[in-house]
Amino acid sequence: MEIERVTILGAGTMGRGIAEVAAVHGLQVTVIEPSASQRTAAAEQIGASVEKGIRRGKLAVSSAEEVLQRLVWIESMQEAAAAEFVIEAAVEREDIKVELFQQLDEICGSDVILGSNTSSISITRLAAATKRPEQVVGMHFFNPVPVMAPVEIVRGLQTSDATVAATRELAERMGKQAFAVADSPGFAVNRMLMPLINEAVFALQEGVADAATLDSLMKLGCNHPMGPLELADLIGLDVCLFITNVLHRELGDPKYRPCPLLVRMVDAGRLGRKTGEGFFHYDS
Ligand SMILES: NC(=O)c1ccc[n+]([C@@H]2O[C@H](COP(=O)([O-])OP(=O)(O)OC[C@H]3O[C@@H](n4cnc5c(N)ncnc54)[C@H](O)[C@@H]3O)[C@@H](O)[C@H]2O)c1
Repeated sequence: MEIERVTILGAGTMGRGIAEVAAVHGLQVTVIEPSASQRTAAAEQIGASVEKGIRRGKLAVSSAEEVLQRLVWIESMQEAAAAEFVIEAAVEREDIKVELFQQLDEICGSDVILGSNTSSISITRLAAATKRPEQVVGMHFFNPVPVMAPVEIVRGLQTSDATVAATRELAERMGKQAFAVADSPGFAVNRMLMPLINEAVFALQEGVADAATLDSLMKLGCNHPMGPLELADLIGLDVCLFITNVLHRELGDPKYRPCPLLVRMVDAGRLGRKTGEGFFHYDS
């Protein structure tokens, strides 16, 4: 199944990154984004990122214009009617995603695969909102998308082998390394990463060491490029808490209970880099 056109829902942090790598690798891309300011900001960011990539000799394209002209920016969901493959990267709200999948199911041709970049919502539940559950799949990219190599291809309970194969092919066409994983809470990476971050917060709360010491030990002792607390600040403490709550609720094991300090940090609005304050301080 040769995919030439992808339709991306949402031009936030992830949607614009996915749009960029798709266009850089020669795909025609339609981005559906309701917010005009997000559409403008995304196009500007992609242009700047591609120019930087060309300057550094990392991209095999001649100009940013060549990439930008493969992108079409629109507001209306009805344009999804022309889609060959959809990658949904809208906000992480199950009610919104379920509604989007119901609409996509109505609008898109019957052979179209509906993918979601969700970090934590069950692909099987999104698939259940459609009449094509075998053609619904997770396509979980990592942030920042132009830089990070892997994509988790998440197989829902009813996802077909053909859908997994076509999604893998598309991810590879976009220059990514695809890894198929089961539809289990947190998929593979967040299932391992969030308990590590949560445990680091427990260690901090219990006074094992201060934040800088805990991070330095993990960097030097485990060869991690970034300590778990700095990484939590980068991801966003609200996002870390949300995913940890999903692990706790859906796996039912108390070992996943969120650390009270993580909850308090989020209550206080100290969400990490995006608010300038988390486990560390960031000047804007
Ligand atoms: N941020 C990350 O590090 C990260 C990493 C992996 C996966 N994800 C997942 O990717 C998805 C998007 O995350 P994000 O960080 O880019 O969010 P974001 O808030 O930056 O962007 C979401 C975008 O979706 C748009 N949107 C809202 N309703 C929409 C609709 N009905 N149709 C189309 N677009 C709509 C918003 O206007 C916004 O531009 C989420 O499911 C998230 O869990 C995020």
